[in-house]
Amino acid sequence: MNDRRAAALSFQYALIIFVLTALLGLANATKLFGELDQNTLLTHLHSGTLGWITLGTIGLVLWLFGGTSALVRPIVLSAAVTGLYVAAFWSGSLWARLIFGAVEVLMLFGWWWWTLRRSLTEGLGRISVPKLSVLLGLTTVVIGGIVGVIVEIEQATGNASAQTGALIGTHAGAQVAGYLVLVAAGVIEWQLAKSDTPTIAGRVEVVLLFLAGLAIALGSMLNLLPLDILSNALQTAAVVMIVVRLGGATVRTSWTSTGGRRHVAIVVPYLVVSVVLFIVLVQDVGQAGGDIEKVPQGLVHALDHTMFIGVMTNALFGMILVLLADRPRVWPWADQLIFWGLNIGAASFIAVLSFVGTSEGTAPFAHPVAYTASLMGLAVLLAIATFTRRLQERPTDVPAPAT
Ligand code: HEM
Ligand code: HEM
Repeated sequence: MNDRRAAALSFQYALIIFVLTALLGLANATKLFGELDQNTLLTHLHSGTLGWITLGTIGLVLWLFGGTSALVRPIVLSAAVTGLYVAAFWSGSLWARLIFGAVEVLMLFGWWWWTLRRSLTEGLGRISVPKLSVLLGLTTVVIGGIVGVIVEIEQATGNASAQTGALIGTHAGAQVAGYLVLVAAGVIEWQLAKSDTPTIAGRVEVVLLFLAGLAIALGSMLNLLPLDILSNALQTAAVVMIVVRLGGATVRTSWTSTGGRRHVAIVVPYLVVSVVLFIVLVQDVGQAGGDIEKVPQGLVHALDHTMFIGVMTNALFGMILVLLADRPRVWPWADQLIFWGLNIGAASFIAVLSFVGTSEGTAPFAHPVAYTASLMGLAVLLAIATFTRRLQERPTDVPAPAT
């Protein structure tokens, strides 16, 4: 098994778990089953962030750093652990969440360690910008994951307090503003920069993003607004650098051509939107005296889906399509529906959440979210089915076995 096959295996497990995220999202959008309870919402959230995004990120790491057949077992094990952890969220059992959460973090630590060793072998000063970016991304997900497990210890032992709330903010800040932005920056650099040479600008940008994630995590933990503002400033500087360096390649992308390129290129405008929403969120949190519960929930959910769908789902769909370029294009008609359905759906969903607000507490199909999010969810389901079928095909450059 080569690096691409290893990546394909992890992408396949990620796509399978993403079915659950999308179905719960559709239920939440249409309200056909009423309001979803907190356990189900946490299942929607972590099946998306761990099942889809993190197993997908492991696929990227294997592809970048050279996975081999020796890694099949760790890949299968990682998917199984993540599936069990997602089930633990749904069960509502605080002890199951603690046990499987700790195993999940150990598993992520294992991938971080593997990536670090490969990076050190190549030399930290020599590795490409995408490699540095995912290495720092994995570092952040492990730090954020450890904070998540501390929250679970407090909850399972009945010691939850106001400090637990601050730790949940720390966890969410590190994961969303740090980990995800770093992985996305790695993907766009990989596909749009077209050169492996590690430029100083690329490295500075990645380090700024890493520091931005740490600053917002610390700012939430200590309830220190200046740290949150510092995070906004670092992230803005890094995203301006991305736009200056890769904006030309983004604009030159053909938006009608099928393939992975346009999914990767559209990540750049979504990153700009996410920075604007991060800045508005920090201002609102400041005005609310640090209490995120008092901030309009529509804004929080708009930022969530800008990162989870606009940025990360486009980045991963783009990379899966790049990987599939050497395999037969089953259902060729699906590509346009997936790209436009996903992005018209996501952009209108994010706009509705920002300007109209959350759909929480509304009747079935009574809020525009029912239509915008459903379009996005259906495009995701079509993508999962299409990519799964294509992943089953054998690469065209591999000779078929003799009959
Ligand atoms: C690494 C393993 C992870 C563990 C152990 C973990 C654990 C937790 C826990 C215990 C909570 C609080 C649940 C509650 O409200 O009772 C939580 C919430 C959350 N997690 Fe995770 N999580 C992990 C990974 C991730 C990842 C990878 C992301 C994003 C990329 C993420 C994003 C969030 C968000 C946004 C919240 C909601 C915060 C809020 O309610 O404001 N988590 N997580
Ligand atoms: C990686 C994938 C995804 C992640 C991590 C994610 C995460 C989240 C989070 C954290 C929330 C807030 C839950 C709360 O109230 O505590 C949420 C709400 C929601 N999600 Fe997702 N989501 C993902 C994909 C999707 C998809 C594909 C759909 C498509 C149908 C969707 C539809 C919704 C809807 C409709 C809401 C309620 C928004 C509102 O009215 O405020 N999500 N999601």
